[in-house]
Amino acid sequence: MARVLRPKDADQVSARLLDASARTSYDPFVDIDWAAPLDREKAYMPMERVSLYGTDLWRGLSEEQRIELSKHEMASIAGVGLWFEIILMQLLIRYAYDLDPRSPHAQYALTEVGDETRHSIMFAKAIARFDTPNYGPGKLLHNLGRVYKAVAGGPSMFAAVLVAEEATDRLQRSTMDDPAIQPLIRMVNRIHVIEEARHVRYAREEVVRGAPGLNRAELEWHRLATAATAIAVMDALVNPRVYKVIGVAPRVGREVARANPHFRETRRWMVEKVVEFLTETGMIGGPSRQLWRRAGLLR
Ligand SMILES: [Fe+2]
Ligand SMILES: [Fe+2]
Repeated sequence: MARVLRPKDADQVSARLLDASARTSYDPFVDIDWAAPLDREKAYMPMERVSLYGTDLWRGLSEEQRIELSKHEMASIAGVGLWFEIILMQLLIRYAYDLDPRSPHAQYALTEVGDETRHSIMFAKAIARFDTPNYGPGKLLHNLGRVYKAVAGGPSMFAAVLVAEEATDRLQRSTMDDPAIQPLIRMVNRIHVIEEARHVRYAREEVVRGAPGLNRAELEWHRLATAATAIAVMDALVNPRVYKVIGVAPRVGREVARANPHFRETRRWMVEKVVEFLTETGMIGGPSRQLWRRAGLLR
């Protein structure tokens, strides 16, 4: 049963977020030492979060291959994150178009666009530094994104944004204080986690404010749109081409990852908190709940 969360005053929340942004914001050109050497013995994400972890295929890999795969998977996640951020910037610009620019609410939307431009540059520089391909979400999603960013709006837009932000946030948080992880990636993730906390707050408020105003038909539509977008993003995070780096065909790697109980658990863990929030606010429920379950994102 959906619990009704009381919305806070939009301008009050935004004014606080603007203060926090003025106090703590980072510039990837200044705050990251891109020339620092990479440590050959350190992973790029926690090994237990790599998609093949725990499988027979994984057991057959050398430590060096495992580190290499962790690098490519992190690069893939960063590339898909970057793709979604560019979509998000356009959604926020369209959103701000209709707001009173004098209001803190509008100014925070614009501030978030500023954050995301710096994040996208930061992820791009990280991918370039790792010397991996820019995997991205694949051609189909790339083109569907073109439509999505032109038409998405309302509670499902912010709900889908939350899934993308909170899922990657959970993974990034787990690397921040882990000395076994590459220092460069820890720094990138630390910056992202700090700034994303404000975005999550903003988007959650938008969902709390927007969801109760939907009628039955609208609610089911927004639930469906949320599920479809969230699942597409989650499924795209690890591009199957990453498996080539360990000499495994993309299709084989993807099948092994899909069947891997560790990876299924990782996917569930990544969305656990946001799924709880979206269920509380009614954005997950009704017939489309089945889609979440089928995607393995909900028990
Ligand atoms: Fe971001
Ligand atoms: Fe964000």
